[in-house]
Amino acid sequence: MTTANSTLQILSADAVLAQYRALRSRQPVNYWAFYSSQLGGVVTDPALMVIPFDDHMVHRGHGIFDTAGLANGKIYDLEAHLDRFVLSAERAKLRLPGAREEMRDIIVKTTAASGRRDGSIRYWLSSGPGSLELTPAAGAAPGFFVMVFAGLSYPERWYTDGLRVMTTTYPIKPPLYAITKTTNYLPNVLMQMEAKQAGFDNGVFIDPNGHVGESSNMNVAFVTSDGVLAHPTFDHILAGCTALRLLELARGLQDEGLLTGVRVCDITVAEARASREMLLFGSSVKVAPIVQWDAQPIGTGKPGPVAKALLRLIEEDMRTGDRLTDVPY
Ligand SMILES: Cc1ncc(COP(=O)(O)O)c(C=O)c1O
Repeated sequence: MTTANSTLQILSADAVLAQYRALRSRQPVNYWAFYSSQLGGVVTDPALMVIPFDDHMVHRGHGIFDTAGLANGKIYDLEAHLDRFVLSAERAKLRLPGAREEMRDIIVKTTAASGRRDGSIRYWLSSGPGSLELTPAAGAAPGFFVMVFAGLSYPERWYTDGLRVMTTTYPIKPPLYAITKTTNYLPNVLMQMEAKQAGFDNGVFIDPNGHVGESSNMNVAFVTSDGVLAHPTFDHILAGCTALRLLELARGLQDEGLLTGVRVCDITVAEARASREMLLFGSSVKVAPIVQWDAQPIGTGKPGPVAKALLRLIEEDMRTGDRLTDVPY
């Protein structure tokens, strides 16, 4: 920031670029490739990964996004993430920039341009720039952006020792906003900040009926005392692609005797607290055990066998399953 008695400079285009470069060198980032429909191509210099300030996604939060994983040079479960992206666009009344196939092609080609074989691919849709109004600017072309980056990483102890979570004091989003993956993550951000400040790893939303919702950017699931994998219904939380896939893969654990069933149902807080295992599911975390909730142990207070088995199943699926998209490097 400039000081009170200095004059504000009018910057040249070169000075702006130099400032963005300086910003990135003060705070290095692992962003490898960025496509912007507004630029009509891909940039690999993080200083150039920018969008106009008057884009409706920036100043009104009128945008949606999704994130797919990149593992061993293949994109995992891209079609499921695209399904959700298209659904979110419809719910947010956002026009697609083109056909789904074109968006898929841009995602795959941006990934190839990154040259990276492991990380995350996040893509956004906005209603575009052109005004500072509430409704999108007349004639604005939708903005489509794709970022290939290192992805979110979590401490190893989450997997070895398990996480500790708290019930958030922040209200859960109303269902329409919770099932739509919009860029409005204020409750999710505040929940995670609150949990970290209180010495926990993350928070959990509870809905107004006293049913378990989800965590900040992950779903939560339980293994009941009679061995059923129970997941909250998807009508008031985001339909996690990882959760949906795990609910399918988990059926194999019935044959191994680790589970007696798989169920999607309303789960009260009391039922959840009495569970044998509590789990986090998400594209970034995959599967991690929660061992303590509001300072009360879950089950034995140690990571359980279902968490371990589900992590194995999803990792296998990411390596050798039938939901992998090739990247033409
Ligand atoms: C609020 C919320 N819930 C759940 C999830 C898990 O979804 P997925 O498994 O598709 O990553 C996410 C992550 O995108 C999320 O942001």
